[in-house]
Formats: sequence, structure tokens, C-alpha cells
Amino acid sequence: MIIEELNADYWQRRYNDGTNVWDAGDVSTPLKNYFDHLTSKEIKILIPGAGNGYEAENLLNAVFKNTCLLDYAIHPLKEFKKRVPGFPDSQLIHQDFFDHEGKYDLIIEQTFFCALHPSLRNKYALHIHHLLNDNGKLVGLLFNNPMADRVPPPFGGTKEEYLKYFSPLFNIKTFDQCYNSIPPRKGNEFFMILEKKIKSQD
Ligand SMILES: C[S@@+](CC[C@H](N)C(=O)[O-])C[C@H]1O[C@@H](n2cnc3c(N)ncnc32)[C@H](O)[C@@H]1O
Repeated sequence: MIIEELNADYWQRRYNDGTNVWDAGDVSTPLKNYFDHLTSKEIKILIPGAGNGYEAENLLNAVFKNTCLLDYAIHPLKEFKKRVPGFPDSQLIHQDFFDHEGKYDLIIEQTFFCALHPSLRNKYALHIHHLLNDNGKLVGLLFNNPMADRVPPPFGGTKEEYLKYFSPLFNIKTFDQCYNSIPPRKGNEFFMILEKKIKSQD
């Protein structure tokens, strides 16, 4: 697929026609496990490309009050609002990630990076860095598979390639084979914890 075709209409269509095969239907085990070990409930959290937002629902139930869910397809946001009516409207953001401004302590990655055209990977890393507070973290999952045998998206990759984008901007706290993936992704993903490096010009 060319980059122009991977727009909000494309993703909206995938939700409308029920081909949102990436949808796990619940918070994923590695992220739930990570959330369960967070100590401060006050931190500002962003989930970009959140889709149906099961992670945001889990965080709300665990009394994290400052979670924002962002997606540029309206369908999953509307479904989320129906499913989780108590979630504040001001924290449901219908916007292109690359236009979003704000400051967060934690940004969650799950099947958003792999939905972006690979030519946007450097821009993604820079924008995540820009959105994080000092010492803020990008935490989540990336496919450990170049996916060369199938028509993208998802666009896969290797650890070596991913680190080219992230190492200049983040301290790599964890970047390992994920041990508690959901069954369809077992053996196929990395779990990462990346901490923002502070650049003098940021
Ligand atoms: C593969 S889906 C993953 C959804 C969700 N993270 C999950 O795990 O179910 C990718 C999501 O990213 C959204 N998306 C893609 N590009 C985006 C962008 N530039 N800004 C905001 N959302 C975007 C799509 O609308 C879609 O909901």
C-alpha cells in the first residue's frame, strides 16, 4: 500500500466492514501486567492509535484518571464511549497523532507503530519524544517479525531496525522478546520500555 492510501478513511473502513482483525477484544496481558505495577495513579498517559481502547478502559477501572485515548478513526471512539460512558469526553481525542500536542509521562504503544507507513517511523519516534515529559516513557509492543510474506499493514521489522529510530532519542531500558504475549502474538513481539533522553533543544 502507498502512504496516501493509509489514511483515516482506510482505517474507518476497516472498522465499518469488520475487518479489524488486530482487535484483541480486551486489554493485552503484557500491558495489563505493566499497568498493575505502576505506583502513581496521577501520571498523564496517552494511548495513540488506540482503536477500541481496551487498555484505556483497564486504566480507568484501575483509577488512573489522566489517560487520553487518541485515534483519527471516529468509529472506535464512538464505540468506546458507548462501552465506557464514564470516560471523560475531554480525554477522547479524535485527531491525527502527528498533529497532537500535549505532554505525557507515559505513552503506550500497541499495533499503532506497525499501522503507520514505514516512511513515518522516524517522525513517530521524534513526535513521541516531543510529547513526553522529561523522564517520560514509551512502553509497549512491537512486532518481532519483518512480515515480508504478507501484504501490509501491519508493517513489521527487526530489533536492529527499530533501535535505529529509538536509540538516538531514548534510553533503552527494556527491549526484549515478550514472554507474556496474547496467544496469537506469542513469539512474535518485543516488549519495550524506552525512557526519553533529554535533548537541550527540546
Ligand atoms: C492496527 S489499529 C490498532 C488499534 C489498537 N491499538 C489496538 O491494539 O487494537 C491502528 C489504529 O491506528 C489508527 N491510526 C493510524 N494512523 C493514525 C494517525 N496518524 N493518527 C491517529 N490514529 C491513527 C487507526 O485508525 C487504527 O485505529
